[in-house]
Amino acid sequence: MRPDGQEPTPHTDASTAARRRRTFAVISHPDAGKSTLTEALALHAQAIGEAGHINGKSGRRHTVSDWMSMEQARGISITSASLQLTYRDTVLNLLDTPGHADFSEDTYRVLAAVDAAVMLIDAAKGLEEQTMKLFAVCKHRGIPIITVVNKWDRPGREPLALMDEIARRTGLTPTPLTWPVGIAGDFRGVLERDTASYVGFSATAGGAHVAPEVRLAPEAAAEREGEAWTTCAEESDLLAASGADHDQEAFLAGVSTPVLFAAAVKNFGVGRLLDTLVDLAPPPGPREDRSGRPRPVDAPFSGYVFKLQTGMDTAHRDRMAFVRVCSGVFRRGTVVTIARTGKPFATKYVQRTFGQGRDVVETAYPGDVVGLVNASALQIGDSIYTDEPVEFPPLPTFAPEHFAVARAKDVGRYKQFRRGITQLEAEGVVQVLRSDLRGDQAPVLAAVGPMQFEVAEHRMADEFGSPVDLERLAYTVARRTDRESASDLSAERGVEVLQRADGDLLALFPDEWRVRSVQRSLPDAELESLVAT
Ligand code: G4P
Repeated sequence: MRPDGQEPTPHTDASTAARRRRTFAVISHPDAGKSTLTEALALHAQAIGEAGHINGKSGRRHTVSDWMSMEQARGISITSASLQLTYRDTVLNLLDTPGHADFSEDTYRVLAAVDAAVMLIDAAKGLEEQTMKLFAVCKHRGIPIITVVNKWDRPGREPLALMDEIARRTGLTPTPLTWPVGIAGDFRGVLERDTASYVGFSATAGGAHVAPEVRLAPEAAAEREGEAWTTCAEESDLLAASGADHDQEAFLAGVSTPVLFAAAVKNFGVGRLLDTLVDLAPPPGPREDRSGRPRPVDAPFSGYVFKLQTGMDTAHRDRMAFVRVCSGVFRRGTVVTIARTGKPFATKYVQRTFGQGRDVVETAYPGDVVGLVNASALQIGDSIYTDEPVEFPPLPTFAPEHFAVARAKDVGRYKQFRRGITQLEAEGVVQVLRSDLRGDQAPVLAAVGPMQFEVAEHRMADEFGSPVDLERLAYTVARRTDRESASDLSAERGVEVLQRADGDLLALFPDEWRVRSVQRSLPDAELESLVAT
């Protein structure tokens, strides 16, 4: 295989290629080390020569994820690009989830396109808020999770206490594959629990090269590490006695999570994560269509759009649609059919986002992500195929927590305003909620993260020629309701009912406390939590 992950011949069949693919995302709270880990994975997999070339904080302004001017101004990543690595003859597709605190629905939608997730936690902080939110989506979708405890080179919690926290807060049984030798802040190496051997790490200057490892039998490890080894071995026995050994079926069923210890910044434990992805993470499998019928990976080409990005190239106002390949072999130039419209779409320009540049993709296989350029005919969630028609289930919508009324600054440009809002809604940039009371001129924009509003505002002015005023509303919770309950709910103080494009009626509340008090006064009212479906 070539280093760019493309097969040496364009004739590899889809199921052979699928078996050698792992498509995953890293879920974490900002600052847990996702960018550092991404660089370290790329370094180990030899996608790049030295850490710091991809997504590095210093160079981030110019890396490929930073398409939009807004992103460049902030030096953060809003878009979800993918990184393709090859390791042990396996292609790893790492889908990027924006790590910023103001993350958005894009982050969640990426999770609809992966087969596994790496949950990265900071050894000192444990499970943080955003990790828990992302975890909830993975759990709901049955995505198997590998846990990595990062920053073990810094003072942190007791490893057993961290395992307790994982079990208590996620409901998953942690099954450590490695166990740290040395407390957090004194990371000497790990006990590899399946082989009972010791893997010792040594640092390299700046962590820029693959860290050398020594492998020792238990006796030699005891001699070298003394007390630290004894404690580690005892704790590992304790784990075994409490049933915390890896069980592949339980992992794939979302019941347990293998755990690794790492210090991404020093490249410690990173190789083991790559091995774990290759050995344990599931390859792309058959994907169910709308009617629940699985489409095998060797069926003719099919895929769906999980992300749209406009304005990556300001000169061309291009729109790129990121497609996850579900079945078959994708070849550049193929004319695919868009399931929603039945119309053909010529895939003349196809790119894979990788490192600093965008390469042209010639072929792609199940599990891969390709970017289709000039994709103005495509919408978020669209299925595309050749030969045998297929329509995959719609992408999930997520519970919005931020709400704002949008009004055209210039009422004379109402036509542009309406076109822009409709377009942003179709692309899934924001959810749009409407009611007779508010009317068409003042729809409510709903978002998972407030940055979605900034994107909407920017695009309304720049792209659709209708600058908007956004008036933030004091709601933070949305619940799905029905027609019968709607009028009673609307009569409650501080509650408003609006309709989303998918037909769902959403009741908005200032906070959870208000939800509970309304539920008490209207016990028969339908108030369903919005979780990813
Ligand atoms: P993020 O993408 O999840 O937001 O995190 P990022 O990789 O940017 O890492 C956040 C900070 O944590 C960075 O420090 C990074 O160097 C540090 N870090 C990541 N992994 C480890 C680790 O294993 N051990 C230790 N000790 N630190 C780690 P920073 O000071 O914010 O930035 P920088 O100036 O070091 O780049």
